[in-house]
This record gives sequence, structure tokens and C-alpha cells, in this order.
Amino acid sequence: MIVCVCNNISDREIRQAIELGLSSMAELRRDLGVATCCGKCHSCAKEVLGEHLDRLQETVLARPVLTT
Ligand code: FES
Repeated sequence: MIVCVCNNISDREIRQAIELGLSSMAELRRDLGVATCCGKCHSCAKEVLGEHLDRLQETVLARPVLTT
């Protein structure tokens, strides 16, 4: 799904950027250009950001702790 129509940025691209280390709207704006034109995508992009960060955190927390 295209999140930012002005810059043709999809939710998939946002999630990939998050997996590469971006973790804020400022970073998404700087690196992808999300919400840098009309700004109508800001709330949707923020929602994708929050949901994916939560999902990644849950994945990390669900991993078993290895002890040696
Ligand atoms: S839709 Fe993203 S800046 Fe316009």
C-alpha cells in the first residue's frame, strides 16, 4: 500500500527502513522523504512506524535467552 503518495513510498519500504535501523518520523522524513510535501501521510506513516517497532520489539522479547 502506498503511504506517501507525493513521494511514492509504500508501507513495505517504511518497514524495510525500520528494519535497517530507522526509528522515528524524523528519520523516515530525512531518509525516505515521507511527509515532506503535503504532509497528509504523516499520521499513517507514524502508525506504520509504531506498529512495526512494536512488532520488532515483541519478536526480540519472544526469543529465548541463551545462557552458556
Ligand atoms: S502524501 Fe506524503 S507528503 Fe504528501
